[in-house]
Amino acid sequence: MDEKYHLALKTAFASEFSFYLKAHNFHWNVEGPLFGQLHELFQTIYEEVYGAIDPFAEHLRALQIYTPAGLQKFSMLTAVQDENHVPEWSGMLKELLSDSDRMAEIFRITFDMAESHGDHGLSNFLADRQDAHKKHSWMLRSSLK
Ligand SMILES: [Fe+2]
Repeated sequence: MDEKYHLALKTAFASEFSFYLKAHNFHWNVEGPLFGQLHELFQTIYEEVYGAIDPFAEHLRALQIYTPAGLQKFSMLTAVQDENHVPEWSGMLKELLSDSDRMAEIFRITFDMAESHGDHGLSNFLADRQDAHKKHSWMLRSSLK
């Protein structure tokens, strides 16, 4: 058992959950002249990410890793920090963009780790997550121009 590998996977999982929650937060709380568009964009993102949570947890279980599953556990592990204020709409876009870029990087690194452990089903999943975040980053970045 490789502790460093398992911790990286749990961190990626907690970060993905935190990212999902932040996108949902922004879907609820966004305001401004682009309300309709951004409300929808944040929904597209949180739905896609939420759809990855259960398969991700089950990949961890297949490696005999217990899935972190509590807000306190998540906050200890996550690389995506909670937003406790309500930023204005462009602040929301910038923050979620930076978090999405961070998630793509986390999945790039964990992909390499999974490959070197011969966990090819998992690495396939992690590659898809990297790709999904690159797409989310593209939409967020384009909305800021
Ligand atoms: Fe909604």
